[in-house]
Amino acid sequence: MYIKKIKLKNFRNYENLEINLENKINIFYGDNAQGKTNILEAIYLCALGKSFRTKKEKELILFSKENSFIEIIYQKKDREGKINLEINNKKYFYLNNIKLKKLSEILGNINIVLFSPDDINIIKGVPENRRKFLNIMISQLRPNYVYNYNLYLKILEQRNNYLRQIKFENKNKELLEIWNQQLTICAENVYNYRKEFIEKILNKINNIHSKITEEKEKINIKYISNFKSKEEFLKELKESEDIDIQKGYTTKGIHRDDFEIYINNNKLNIYGSQGQIRSFILSLKLSELEIIYDEIGEYPILLLDDFMSELDEKRRIGFMNSVKDAQVLITCTDKLVDNMWITFNVKNGHVDKLIKNFSN
Ligand SMILES: Nc1ncnc2c1ncn2[C@@H]1O[C@H](COP(=O)(O)OP(=O)(O)OP(=O)(O)O)[C@@H](O)[C@H]1O
Ligand SMILES: [Mg+2]
Repeated sequence: MYIKKIKLKNFRNYENLEINLENKINIFYGDNAQGKTNILEAIYLCALGKSFRTKKEKELILFSKENSFIEIIYQKKDREGKINLEINNKKYFYLNNIKLKKLSEILGNINIVLFSPDDINIIKGVPENRRKFLNIMISQLRPNYVYNYNLYLKILEQRNNYLRQIKFENKNKELLEIWNQQLTICAENVYNYRKEFIEKILNKINNIHSKITEEKEKINIKYISNFKSKEEFLKELKESEDIDIQKGYTTKGIHRDDFEIYINNNKLNIYGSQGQIRSFILSLKLSELEIIYDEIGEYPILLLDDFMSELDEKRRIGFMNSVKDAQVLITCTDKLVDNMWITFNVKNGHVDKLIKNFSN
């Protein structure tokens, strides 16, 4: 799939922008703080319903304006589509001019894989970063995952509230069983999807990784979850009730899931070199790309935020070869010169398409 057109109005540092993209590599280059990442952020918002940088709508709106508007026209193999987003103190999405009732309805229309400098947190950061990686991949492909995950979080919040009521208001402890039962149903669902997708990654990643690194590194990913089976999870919830009441929150569950990454049986976050970590992230994201391809029958759009500068020449070329059938949007601070690539210069909220020079 690919994006044909992007329009921005009062979004971040863009007052008015309209650009046409091509179904190949599109480079956005310019100095720091000119608006390169803002363009990727606009696309990400229309793909996933939220920003990768902020939860606050206000920050997305051009200073001193009331509303922002984004319009994206995309082409899938069987249809053209249009997404409109209006942002004021809330976000309103429209798909082909029809207003969406739920945020989750936006998912799966524009499929993307984002490469950003923050990806390092998938390895180095807290478990939440790894769950977020899984959530983003799975939610683009399985609407039922989003439904169950959101329901899980809602029930979790209710259970946590009730735990505090038991502690402070002497409410009946027996009633916790109701929340335990409901939580287990959603937890099983989320667990099964996560397990399925970690297996999908494992089926792809070693093959991809050996091509990129030309080294004999064997990757393993271990899914860590409190959930084993419905019966065991119910038992665990029951057993931890007293601790949960004491703490005022639920200590066991898929909201604490994690995964561990091993290279040649050594934990990557502890023993991995800078280069190994970078190469792993690349392989992980390329696995995500192929998983999406297998599922929807076309490549997602690749958004590479400041990513190329992290790769040496050999890996850049290797990377470009492995994604050549996808639309790719790259931001960078220096012009990656190649006449085959569409290049845009980004300067202070303005974007100029450079005329290609075919003479050499
Ligand atoms: N709501 C807003 N209104 C106006 N300008 C904003 C708003 N939010 C961010 N900006 C401006 O957008 C610019 C940053 O844009 P962006 O993150 O896209 O930069 P960039 O070109 O990717 O830079 P870098 O190379 O440093 O990553 C900054 O100048 C910032 O002040
Ligand atoms: Mg940037």
